[in-house]
Amino acid sequence: MFSCLCLLLAVIHTVTGQISGGEIGWVGEPTDPGPAWPLQTFVTEPILRPPVIKTDQSGPAGDNPIFLDIQGTDQQAGIIVSPSGSLLWSGGNGSLVNLTPETLNGQPVMLAWNGTTIGHLEAYGSILIFDDSYELIYDVKLQDPELGNEWPSYANTHEVFLTGRGSVVVTTAVRKGPTDLSFVGGPTEGYFWDCLIYEIDVKTNQVLFKWSTADHNNTVPLTDSRALPFGVGYGWGNTTFPWNPYHMNSAQAVDDGYVFSLRHTSTVYHVVPNGTVTWQIHGSNETPQMIQQFQMGANTSFSWQHDARVASKSNSSLELHLVDNNNELPTQHNETYGLVLAVDLNNMSVTEMARLKDEKDPQGTFAGGSFAKLDGDADSHWVIDYGFVPVVKEFDAAGNCILTMQFGPKEGSILSYRAFRAEWHGYPKTKPKVSACWTTDRVHGPVTRVHASWNGATEVAGWNVLLGSSSNSNTTGLTKMGAMNRTGFETVTEIQGTYTFVQVESIGGGRAPHTNVTSEIILVEGTCV
Ligand SMILES: *[C@@H]1O[C@H](CO)[C@@H](O)[C@H](O)[C@H]1NC(C)=O
Ligand SMILES: *[C@@H]1O[C@H](CO)[C@@H](O)[C@H](O)[C@H]1NC(C)=O
Ligand SMILES: *[C@@H]1O[C@H](CO)[C@@H](O)[C@H](O)[C@H]1NC(C)=O
Ligand SMILES: *[C@@H]1O[C@H](CO)[C@@H](O)[C@H](O)[C@H]1NC(C)=O
Ligand SMILES: *[C@@H]1O[C@H](CO)[C@@H](O)[C@H](O)[C@H]1NC(C)=O
Ligand SMILES: *[C@@H]1O[C@H](CO)[C@@H](O)[C@H](O)[C@H]1NC(C)=O
Ligand SMILES: *[C@@H]1O[C@H](CO)[C@@H](O)[C@H](O)[C@H]1NC(C)=O
Ligand SMILES: *[C@@H]1O[C@H](CO)[C@@H](O)[C@H](O)[C@H]1NC(C)=O
Ligand SMILES: *[C@@H]1O[C@H](CO)[C@@H](O)[C@H](O)[C@H]1NC(C)=O
Ligand SMILES: *[C@@H]1O[C@H](CO)[C@@H](O)[C@H](O)[C@H]1NC(C)=O
Ligand SMILES: *[C@@H]1O[C@H](CO)[C@@H](O)[C@H](O)[C@H]1NC(C)=O
Ligand SMILES: *[C@@H]1O[C@H](CO)[C@@H](O)[C@H](O)[C@H]1NC(C)=O
Repeated sequence: MFSCLCLLLAVIHTVTGQISGGEIGWVGEPTDPGPAWPLQTFVTEPILRPPVIKTDQSGPAGDNPIFLDIQGTDQQAGIIVSPSGSLLWSGGNGSLVNLTPETLNGQPVMLAWNGTTIGHLEAYGSILIFDDSYELIYDVKLQDPELGNEWPSYANTHEVFLTGRGSVVVTTAVRKGPTDLSFVGGPTEGYFWDCLIYEIDVKTNQVLFKWSTADHNNTVPLTDSRALPFGVGYGWGNTTFPWNPYHMNSAQAVDDGYVFSLRHTSTVYHVVPNGTVTWQIHGSNETPQMIQQFQMGANTSFSWQHDARVASKSNSSLELHLVDNNNELPTQHNETYGLVLAVDLNNMSVTEMARLKDEKDPQGTFAGGSFAKLDGDADSHWVIDYGFVPVVKEFDAAGNCILTMQFGPKEGSILSYRAFRAEWHGYPKTKPKVSACWTTDRVHGPVTRVHASWNGATEVAGWNVLLGSSSNSNTTGLTKMGAMNRTGFETVTEIQGTYTFVQVESIGGGRAPHTNVTSEIILVEGTCV
């Protein structure tokens, strides 16, 4: 084991000298935004600017919407889109990372992380929980003096996991610690980023469980890290740019503890409530790991993985799925897979169950992503989000890609860290929005063009259009002049004649019994531009 490390160290010293300091990023990471990508604009919601979502569907993908956290455009936002790529909701201004549909105490909710991100690991924020009216119902804060007191909350951006055990979430956190790093070629008075798991009660912010990787270096030693050499990519190992040996990027509560992923050891771990690491599955044998427990079957290797999740579990076996990023650096483009593994805890073996990829359109992302199994009307389908590559794909139960969504250039700054797909019915407390102007139609002559939208109202089927032309229309009432079916986030129609007052009424979409909801009455703006 140590002879291998010495070989590595020889390389470290030639490479580190070339790179200048900076916050932790990846060497060669693209800094320019990439080719321009069209953004959607809406007359009734001028402030919303989600990227255009291109879809390519070749099979039945179900009706449930897709939840994305759009980063890298001028408006970072959580968005919900239909399988055909039509916007249903856009919200949050800042960083709604990991926008996740869930159920809390039997009620539909969305969770998301919001806060400040510094580089790829450091992030300090809270977990926001919204109800199906998009109202904030909990702002879950992680506060622990051991993490510091500079930030209002210390939850890390990498995880937002609702446990299903009452109102409890699991998240991760980072903590800078001093240590001697000379055994991996770093400074004697070195610094590194520890990664922690926290379980928190959403109602009280009480910490119910806390676990630190560094405190368990008897089973997860720093020498298991592949995050070398020291430099811009993994940190210099000093106090301004601590070394990032673990990079915890998922943590899930399971019946008897937690399953978590460390990208920088290419390993998935299981820890029980008393803090003992009971098993660890190493996806790569490129560096020697201290504890080897599993017999790895054919094609079970993975590396630099994300979003390790247990789909089903008994005391003796489990199904583990993860994004096998298979790339260490942004300059690498090895193919990324959705990997499903059968783990047998009796004979300690790992067998490949599925390795999903779109042979016609392979994707290679160096980081980020999620891999989830669906139920409901897309039972046993899988959804892969390719992280830093702004692509989401759905695969059917036989492993065929049946839907592709792209929402940014493949080499650019737009991305969604994870993607989810689940049933969702949103009933915003806001009113529908309307806008109208006058124009001329070749056949009908002068017309009033009407735009209608209702951000987040997923159930709207169409719109009644009410118009008036007398100066007292606003007080004596408008006349219903037409109706239109919903065609997308914003629906447009033209009504013959030149009217001055306009109102729209949704056909459905409001929470029962008030399903049809009216907008304000507004003045037509004038001639269309
Ligand atoms: C840490 O190392 C980087 C790169 O050499 C350097 O820019 C920075 O000043 C160092 N910080 C400290 C506290 O020495
Ligand atoms: C988001 O915030 C920016 C700057 O704080 C502001 O310019 C922009 O209008 C906001 N967008 C939305 C949708 O609120
Ligand atoms: C989101 O985080 C930003 C930055 O920390 C903060 O200014 C903003 O108030 C937060 N938004 C909510 C809804 O908590
Ligand atoms: C392991 O952690 C202990 C304290 O928690 C520390 O004394 C020891 O140096 C660490 N060992 C390594 C190899 O980091
Ligand atoms: C922790 O729990 C595991 C599994 O339940 C058990 O095997 C182990 O002995 C416990 N360790 C301690 C220190 O209590
Ligand atoms: C492993 O992958 C290779 C190449 O894709 C394939 O030929 C082989 O059948 C796979 N083996 C198993 C056990 O899945
Ligand atoms: C699984 O293990 C737990 C704790 O050891 C035990 O209570 C439970 O009965 C076991 N379940 C099965 C199906 O063996
Ligand atoms: C990418 O693929 C190449 C060729 O198969 C392999 O040598 C390399 O180790 C892979 N990179 C990573 C980070 O796994
Ligand atoms: C372990 O058991 C599984 C069945 O659960 C079997 O498929 C596999 O071949 C066994 N592996 C070893 C190494 O015995
Ligand atoms: C609206 O949709 C219904 C049902 O799909 C259809 O019968 C009707 O013709 C549509 N109306 C318009 C104005 O397109
Ligand atoms: C909503 O509007 C539609 C179309 O005008 C109508 O058929 C339906 O009865 C209305 N629903 C309610 C609850 O008024
Ligand atoms: C319509 O009347 C309401 C209530 O008097 C008023 O607040 C609103 O500004 C009026 N709208 C227009 C377009 O005049």
